[in-house]
Amino acid sequence: MSESVSKPHRVVVIGTGAVGSTTAYTLLLRNRMSELVFIDANKDKALGEALDMNHGLPFVGGVKLWAGDYSDCKDADIIIIAAGSNQRPGETRIDLLNRNAAIFDDIIKNITKYNDHGILLIATNPVDILSYVSWKKSGWPANRVIGSGTLLDSARFRYLIGKHKEIDPRSIHAHIIGEHGDSELPVWSLANVAGSALAFDEAEQDDIFNSTKNAAYEIINAKGSTSYAIALALDRIVAAILQNEHAVLNVSSLLDDYHGISDVYLGVPSIVGREGIREKLQIPLNEKEEALLRASAAKLKDQISQLNI
Ligand code: 2OP
Repeated sequence: MSESVSKPHRVVVIGTGAVGSTTAYTLLLRNRMSELVFIDANKDKALGEALDMNHGLPFVGGVKLWAGDYSDCKDADIIIIAAGSNQRPGETRIDLLNRNAAIFDDIIKNITKYNDHGILLIATNPVDILSYVSWKKSGWPANRVIGSGTLLDSARFRYLIGKHKEIDPRSIHAHIIGEHGDSELPVWSLANVAGSALAFDEAEQDDIFNSTKNAAYEIINAKGSTSYAIALALDRIVAAILQNEHAVLNVSSLLDDYHGISDVYLGVPSIVGREGIREKLQIPLNEKEEALLRASAAKLKDQISQLNI
């Protein structure tokens, strides 16, 4: 009997706001695990989400799910953290730092009381800095502390390029790397379809990248929060981990001499499997891209240096 059949796979979602609950629902629909637990400081919210999803089990089945507490982290394979404030219209992700870093102290302490073997998957913004904070506070090896990074931004980028070229976004190979936020950068030098470079003039490139970078602001202005695409991105990461895919995903992880950058979490193409991050791929960057990546790292390091961790 294979391990995946004999052993339950447990995913815990901490924070059942728009991102946490939509992610849980996506994981449920895609049948990613056998046990799904919701934890929220607002116990009623977690209970309500669990009840609502439980009533859908006759239609999907296969999952045991409940509203629990931190002791349920004990047997978790993956713990997704989506707790905290999200951006209000006009706020940047970095504006959330002090508010959200404060609650991470408690969250990480509570998780590590019960679990020392799982994978932490961070979605709360500013995600790169909070992933770094989680790594430091947990004391876990960095390969097991992962941020959603620029996986979502890369998806937005591929969608917009695909729309422009009238090609399915799944056939577009293009990366956004760096901060999941205002200092992220497009790697135009490697963007391709079937190995052929994409012919865009500078104005088209600027237009596509600005729409990518500002997508969350546009959605938050329109509907208050983002949820569906980030949920699909988190689901993708969970699948890569639980199925030991060794998929290449632009998640956020601790850089160690990546184009000369160390000791900061940033989104770069990484091989993701059961061990978390197996390896980061040093993709070739041109001079301009490398300078932008350095600037993104410098911005986040400056923010981290102001934190008491
Ligand atoms: C997003 O990019 C707000 O970070 C969130 O959708």
